[in-house]
Amino acid sequence: MRKPLVAGNWKMNGSRESVSALLNGLNSGIAQTGGEELTGKVDIAVFPPSIYVQQVADVLASSTISWGLQNICAEEKGAFTGEVSVSMAQDFSCTMVLAGHSERRSLFGEVDADVAVKVERAGKAGLIPVLCVGETLEEREADKTMEVVSRQVKAVLNHVDAAALEKLVIAYEPVWAIGTGLTATPEQAQEVHASIRQLLVEHDADMATRTRILYGGSVKGSNAAEIFAGPDVDGGLVGGASLSVQDFLSICRAAD
Ligand code: 13P
Repeated sequence: MRKPLVAGNWKMNGSRESVSALLNGLNSGIAQTGGEELTGKVDIAVFPPSIYVQQVADVLASSTISWGLQNICAEEKGAFTGEVSVSMAQDFSCTMVLAGHSERRSLFGEVDADVAVKVERAGKAGLIPVLCVGETLEEREADKTMEVVSRQVKAVLNHVDAAALEKLVIAYEPVWAIGTGLTATPEQAQEVHASIRQLLVEHDADMATRTRILYGGSVKGSNAAEIFAGPDVDGGLVGGASLSVQDFLSICRAAD
């Protein structure tokens, strides 16, 4: 049985004040509504902007919520101005990192090979790499969804050895559904998730059974339950709605 994971990607949003309010709200919301019951059934994580990770680590030190970075450098250390390494993430008790988010790919020029190295670095260090994949609207309309997603997934499977993929999580985020209010239908999501699972089966059957595949793209409290109902949908990667305590908690409950 795969334990669902609901993760909030805050992107480049927040301030010390709002981070504090959001985290305290999440902690007390979880505690008030039978916290252990919820976190026993659903893993919950947040991905703050890296400059706030110390604050997040302080506030969540005794919480069941995990945290991680939205991106890490493909290099280990040295002259890479502006970058943050895997070991720095671990220094602040991060347990997860996102790799290959579509905004990193489209706005910052990350290609499959970069993403594969980042997944490898995170996985080798014992972190949970969350590999983000997904097609653009143009690609979907040209019937290229699985061609694109399969290329993105295989770039990682073919580059990274099994041990570093032990904790891999994949997030399917159709680019056309991110921040647009458009969501894949539960059928569209399940179809792609099942195809991703099949790619994993062909690579390593055990890994296919344990790897969590999250859906991301305009997930809200009102649509989460029906999307998460798909047998291959193991939770969600949430952008906008993760900035609201109530919305994020209702999505977490929907994954229960
Ligand atoms: P939204 O939930 O705002 O569409 O963002 C999804 C996303 O990109 C999460 O990584």
